[in-house]
Amino acid sequence: MTELSTIYKLSLVAAACFFHACSSSSCPALDCWFVQEKVGRGGGLTPPTSQEKSLLYIRTDANSHSAESQEPLSDTSPDRVYFITDPAATLCHHSLSPPKGSIEKPQCEISPFLQQPSNLKWVAPLTVSGFSPLYLQADWFSAALRGVDKELAISTVMRAPTATKEPNVILSVTSKTVSVQSRLGKPVLLDCGFWVDPSSPLSGSGFAVEWRYQFRGKGRLVLAYDGKTDRLADTQEKGATLDIEGLHKKGNASLILQEAKVRHSGTYICTVYLPYLLAQVAVELEIVEPPSLSIHPSPLPLAAPGQTLNVHCQASGFAPLSMELSWEFKGADGKARPLESCSVTGHREAWDGTYSQSTWLALDTSKMDLGTGGELTCVAVHPGGTRRARTSLSIIGLTSPSIEDSMAMVGVALVLYGLIKFVFWTFSSSGIK
Ligand SMILES: *[C@@H]1O[C@H](CO)[C@@H](O)[C@H](O)[C@H]1NC(C)=O
Repeated sequence: MTELSTIYKLSLVAAACFFHACSSSSCPALDCWFVQEKVGRGGGLTPPTSQEKSLLYIRTDANSHSAESQEPLSDTSPDRVYFITDPAATLCHHSLSPPKGSIEKPQCEISPFLQQPSNLKWVAPLTVSGFSPLYLQADWFSAALRGVDKELAISTVMRAPTATKEPNVILSVTSKTVSVQSRLGKPVLLDCGFWVDPSSPLSGSGFAVEWRYQFRGKGRLVLAYDGKTDRLADTQEKGATLDIEGLHKKGNASLILQEAKVRHSGTYICTVYLPYLLAQVAVELEIVEPPSLSIHPSPLPLAAPGQTLNVHCQASGFAPLSMELSWEFKGADGKARPLESCSVTGHREAWDGTYSQSTWLALDTSKMDLGTGGELTCVAVHPGGTRRARTSLSIIGLTSPSIEDSMAMVGVALVLYGLIKFVFWTFSSSGIK
């Protein structure tokens, strides 16, 4: 009996925890900017916009009102306070609610959204039949959010019955990998997922997914999929795929690049279309490949004192371009020190977009205090990691005395001088006696 009642109590506790976790109380209230194009001031290239403080209360269930009892209103106009219902709890992500007092704040922007059909080949089939446009007659909003960890981006489209402040999330598109780094030749996954409110008439009338690439103002279509007719659009891009099954079953629209190339570095925009609606998130990809180094000549020839050796170190196959090349020398004392007398050549770009660059070192064996030789290292500091190439340097024959040697000689001379003085003094004093 006692066991049973314990189990009973435990399950009650578990149920309470469960309900607590599911209730909207775990969702943050989000400080947001309400951004709107200013009306009546047309003309000019960029439409003038206005920005107002806004506050978004999030709940996962329209009937729960616990959200309203959160935090008192700030200096936000009551007109700009929204009570959002997000059944998928996308907006409840922990990176949107940093601990109190933290400096980093999530970013949030909400604006009025204008629904319209698209003429794009892979989107047009969504609106051919035309469903009751009555559903569209409402106040539509879009919100774009970025988490504090710089990993999460969310874009949502919401519908509020006209003149209410209670929008429902209809479509949300999320990426959990806002900035991705990859080595060359490796497969890359750019995360993008979407959720459609199953209770919306728009759900079930098809979707389309599009990935676009942008770099320094230039763009191209990477991939486009019409989910209604199950067709991929023709693109020039090889080795870019979607997991079509995961896309239909779980809304997993992640882009898979089979083999990372330097030219893949840039911004990727994942857009998900529903009839008349769209939401998109951007993902940055950077291909980072550290250099491989080689020293020439290798091995180094024996150097005679007074001779100058020219040593060449080549760094190749790296990206991006930023890299520092330098030389180090480790002598008999085992301490590494930098060598200054080197010059760095301009960079060259290879067919695959990687770079190469060289450094020349003029090793003057008479001036550089190299002793009888040691270890010579070429060092490349690159965002992809630091690389080193080593070779040994031997100097034959006599060498000029080092500082330590000179000091020792001075020491010996002083002792000798003292000794002679002492002997001379002893003799001269005994002579007086
Ligand atoms: C989405 O699909 C890719 C490729 O199949 C997979 O690696 C990834 O884990 C999936 N993401 C989610 C959230 O299921």
